[in-house]
Amino acid sequence: MIDLNAVSILPMRESDLVEIQDIEEMEYAGDDTYMVEDLRSIIESTSNNIKYRATVARYNGQVVGYQIILIINSMEFIKSIMRFYVVEDYRRMGVGSLLMSATTPKITGDRVMVEIPEDDYGFAAFLRKNGFIVTEVVANEYEEDVEVEMEGYFSFTNEKKARMTRERRNLWRAK
Ligand SMILES: CC(C)(COP(=O)(O)OP(=O)(O)OC[C@H]1O[C@@H](n2cnc3c(N)ncnc32)[C@H](O)[C@@H]1OP(=O)(O)O)[C@@H](O)C(=O)NCCC(=O)NCCS
Repeated sequence: MIDLNAVSILPMRESDLVEIQDIEEMEYAGDDTYMVEDLRSIIESTSNNIKYRATVARYNGQVVGYQIILIINSMEFIKSIMRFYVVEDYRRMGVGSLLMSATTPKITGDRVMVEIPEDDYGFAAFLRKNGFIVTEVVANEYEEDVEVEMEGYFSFTNEKKARMTRERRNLWRAK
């Protein structure tokens, strides 16, 4: 186990990028890995339409997790998680939850969304534990020869809801 008090959650910086690229290539190894140039364009983005929030979790001088969030400026209340990753050797120690706590919606109506593969049960369990619910299920699309044309996915959302008023709660109970 690690001391979570010694884990720092910091904005992603130039000095983190090579380390993150290594994790993307060696460990994550998905088909949409982020290279240094991609990460740099994210942290240096000056677009008028979108912005990114990129954060790293550092422990003992090492990147142990990171997340990249996209926000469309005209819909600031929605945050879309583009990448959320904890290094394998540091999982099930609370690092992911600590990283996610920086993103948890705090104002009523704010929401955080993420799409994950249908069979990523560990990630799904983690999201449920962190207040997300499934808001959309998109099934695999198949070609005629039964090859998968498009992989299905689950959309998970964590939305800060208004507290239910007493009147509303009583109405609900009466049904
Ligand atoms: C999902 C992930 C972020 C979890 O990070 P983590 O640091 O291990 O999470 P935490 O330690 O904060 O877990 C909190 C709780 O979530 C649940 N949880 C986390 N991982 C789980 C798993 N693999 N299976 C079941 N439950 C899990 C547990 O309830 C856990 O509490 P517990 O350990 O006390 O039982 C990490 O496993 C990961 O990065 N996976 C790869 C995700 C990925 O592929 N990202 C790329 C696409 S965006």
